[in-house]
Amino acid sequence: MSELKIKAAKKAVEYVKDGMILGLGTGSTTKFAVDEIGKLVAAGYDLVGIPTSIETEKQAKSLNIPLTELECVDRIDLTIDGADEVDPNFDLIKGLGGALLREKIVAYYSKKEIIIVDESKIVNQLGTRVSLPVEVTKFSHKKTKESIEKLGCSAQLRGSDSPFVTDNGNFIYDCKFSGISDPHGLELKLNSIPGVVENGLFLDLASHVVIGTESETRVLEKKAY
Ligand code: A5P
Repeated sequence: MSELKIKAAKKAVEYVKDGMILGLGTGSTTKFAVDEIGKLVAAGYDLVGIPTSIETEKQAKSLNIPLTELECVDRIDLTIDGADEVDPNFDLIKGLGGALLREKIVAYYSKKEIIIVDESKIVNQLGTRVSLPVEVTKFSHKKTKESIEKLGCSAQLRGSDSPFVTDNGNFIYDCKFSGISDPHGLELKLNSIPGVVENGLFLDLASHVVIGTESETRVLEKKAY
């Protein structure tokens, strides 16, 4: 599976041009892309990265990739990130790595968002392969869970006995739906629950999807971009 991830990562990094400000995603697939970006920096490219997690920040620093913060720039030219599910509309579920909040903020401000996946992540409908991660405040998180479950899922606190804490100091509930038929509607409902900080639905944010398969690397570009 790593080979497919590497193929997708290398193809996505072909979109990186000298002088770009880059969003650096999080996860095992993106890790390969960050390695490739590090090679470009070593070769003399003038690139600046905005990491979406402490994990990616550490990797980028180890590769001497210059970093900045979103507040300090007027644009992000390109972000490369992974995903846990990709549907035919280029809508995504993200957040199995726990970095969904920063990933979504960076994606929102990116001119291009290239999603790199192996073929196992492709689905016909979101919510059929993985649970939807929802980041919530620690305060009153059990009440927040009850409200989330009223939307038709079963929600499991990530880490259970020793809860996983995000880079932002919050908890994550992994919410099992039997398919999400109306992702936009669900996102609105989730975001209207007090205590929900962000959810792993990434809708209308991906411009490209690069899919590593056994036989080829497929690049799909969303028509609207
Ligand atoms: C991190 O929070 C996630 O959104 C990842 O981008 C996603 O889980 C994909 O990760 P892998 O590339 O490790 O499968």
